[in-house]
Amino acid sequence: MSKNTLEIEDVLRVGKVVSVKGRSIEVLVDKSKNGSHLLYNGELIKNISVGSYVKIAKGFESFIGKIEGEYITEDKVYQDKIYLNEKDKIKRILNIKLLGYIESGKFKQGIKDLPLIDNECYLVSQDEFKKVHYFLKEINGKLDEELEVGHLANERGKEIILGVNSLFASHIGIFGNTGSGKSYTLASLYHRLFEKYKDEQRFKENAKFIIIDFNGEYLMPEGDDNIIVHSEYKNTYNLSTRRNDSDKFPISASEINDDDFWSIFLTATDKTQKPFLKRALSNEFYFSRFDTIENFRWCLGNVIQNLIERGSDKSDILQFLSETSSAIGGNATLEEIRNDYSSKLKWHNSNTTFYYETPPTIYLADPQFKGVVIDQPINQVNVDLNSVSDLQKIRLRVVFEYYNEIAKFDLNTEHISPLIKRLKRIEELDRIITISDDFSDNFLDIISLSDVNTSMKKVIPLLICKQVYDKKKASKRFI
Ligand SMILES: Nc1ncnc2c1ncn2[C@@H]1O[C@H](COP(=O)(O)OP(=O)(O)OP(=O)(O)O)[C@@H](O)[C@H]1O
Ligand SMILES: [Mg+2]
Repeated sequence: MSKNTLEIEDVLRVGKVVSVKGRSIEVLVDKSKNGSHLLYNGELIKNISVGSYVKIAKGFESFIGKIEGEYITEDKVYQDKIYLNEKDKIKRILNIKLLGYIESGKFKQGIKDLPLIDNECYLVSQDEFKKVHYFLKEINGKLDEELEVGHLANERGKEIILGVNSLFASHIGIFGNTGSGKSYTLASLYHRLFEKYKDEQRFKENAKFIIIDFNGEYLMPEGDDNIIVHSEYKNTYNLSTRRNDSDKFPISASEINDDDFWSIFLTATDKTQKPFLKRALSNEFYFSRFDTIENFRWCLGNVIQNLIERGSDKSDILQFLSETSSAIGGNATLEEIRNDYSSKLKWHNSNTTFYYETPPTIYLADPQFKGVVIDQPINQVNVDLNSVSDLQKIRLRVVFEYYNEIAKFDLNTEHISPLIKRLKRIEELDRIITISDDFSDNFLDIISLSDVNTSMKKVIPLLICKQVYDKKKASKRFI
């Protein structure tokens, strides 16, 4: 060891370890090191203080720790002596938390070993300080891309550089009290990332970021803004389950016909509701006839006829009518038919058949039954099928499948009826999504859910993420 190295070590030494309790270490500070600064080679070096780093040497190993606190006690050994200096009377002890160690010239976080009592403690040199704050890693033999995210609050000028891939292609958690700057930090991280790459072609082609903003803090009420990145680079959606004129998030047609999508959205149970949904979404029989009013009337009549002929519960027939009505946003004629059936359509117990009680009574077996009870009223139904949205058609599709299965296969309604009740959610979904394959290719989508009700807040993120993931997977364009 050269004289110079010995000299540096002597100057930088602050004391020695007096206690080791797990990761908490106590160091007794040398009496000569109690000043706020040290002088070495004509340079002023900042002495130890709370928050600064120290190195503890154990043979050839070096541990790095952070000073978390300090206290003083009276030095009993000196008790009966005359002091030259007041400060000799006290012992200054540092509480240090071990952060990691230096191995083959690199700082590693974590604990592999612990210091021993009497090991020496040093101020960290500039070089070691840099190592502690060096976060770039090699990925597949290549050093990660650099991103400067800020600088240390107590060491002005010491910038913190993180690796883009290890930071953004992984999970991040930002923790802190209310108002401590979590949302700000998030915005700042992504702002810096986008400032660096926003005009790079490969980034624009391959990267996709979605911010699901529960509090609406990353959106400006008026379009043109610079939050996180300038408007021209991002798409913003301010969704609302309360208003009809809010933005709508585009979901592709293929995604909307996917039974997983609906299973998530309607929180379908695995064993019974999911298979039912699958059947409903693959059965084209009624769905393909929701195109003209004549065909639609035929479908209505067909399901009612099946239910009546099968001798299903009267309540199922009534519910079929009211659910069909609400699926298309309310229909007065369907409601009237429902009320008419409610009072006049009756079940004859001994004959086990339906009859219609309009004087004179018409039994199901009468040839005129279908004409009077089903066809005539159903022909009065008018629906503007063009104004029935694609989502409402899916709701109709499920309703028709359900009542048809009740009529034809005695479907166990106990399991499926909760799912049918949840179909009402589609009305809210209709307000916040639109079926479209016309996506913008911006790398950032900001979706505000601040005006979306709680049940939708739970499912919308799942649906959005599923769609983006499926699309990315299908494109097979991984960086
Ligand atoms: N590094 C910073 N520099 C300047 N101002 C900041 C910084 N961090 C946060 N702020 C300001 O502090 C305030 C609170 O920050 P922010 O909203 O990010 O906190 P939060 O932790 O997300 O709070 P909450 O828990 O309520 O969501 C904001 O006005 C923000 O602009
Ligand atoms: Mg916040």
